[in-house]
Amino acid sequence: MKKNKISKNWINRQRKDIYVRQSKIEGFRSRAVYKIKEIDEKFKIFKHVNSLVDLGAAPGSWSQYAATKIKSEKILSIDLINFNKIKNCQQIIGDFTNEDCKKEIKNYFNKKIDLIISDMAVNTIGNKNIDAIVTGDLCMEAMNFSLDTLQMNGKFVSKIFMGSSFNEIVSQAKKYFKDVRVFKPLASRKNSKETFIICKILR
Ligand SMILES: C[S@@+](CC[C@H](N)C(=O)[O-])C[C@H]1O[C@@H](n2cnc3c(N)ncnc32)[C@H](O)[C@@H]1O
Repeated sequence: MKKNKISKNWINRQRKDIYVRQSKIEGFRSRAVYKIKEIDEKFKIFKHVNSLVDLGAAPGSWSQYAATKIKSEKILSIDLINFNKIKNCQQIIGDFTNEDCKKEIKNYFNKKIDLIISDMAVNTIGNKNIDAIVTGDLCMEAMNFSLDTLQMNGKFVSKIFMGSSFNEIVSQAKKYFKDVRVFKPLASRKNSKETFIICKILR
């Protein structure tokens, strides 16, 4: 399909989408907010949470939602691309996979973290199988980081794609965490391979 045809389809889909409309009414920057909201309502991920890292945060709807749930001002939002400041959130613009970025996150908290959420994904306009593998790698990298930085009762939530690395990621998660669930929120488009992994309590 030609590029301008893809963007026309994208604009039409956005216009019809109830989550897009709802996010505009409620002042959230992206329809993605309803994914984390649904995950939170089902798995209570923000319960007893005072510190949070949001990986792949731009344009910022997950961090906006987190700021309504956490009052401690210990929210750190990271993305490769620049995005507008969010009240009560600190930002790092950088590549999470870079060791300096990980160091900066650890230095900011200087103690174990309660919740790490990751919506990191590569641009899915290209080859979907390759995108799924690269996004799976990002999820694994975030999970490994969480082993090092989460407190024992901490939680890790990440986007993953159904694809060749899916089973491997879930089985690694089960080695590291006592409680592991996979959940696709209603707000996640039916035709997308996207789903989410919710991990609680380190082993
Ligand atoms: C689906 S968007 C996130 C939407 C966000 N959760 C929200 O609610 O607004 C995925 C983001 O992951 C970011 N990303 C991808 N790879 C990354 C990396 N290595 N480090 C930091 N951010 C990354 C992209 O720049 C993109 O903004």
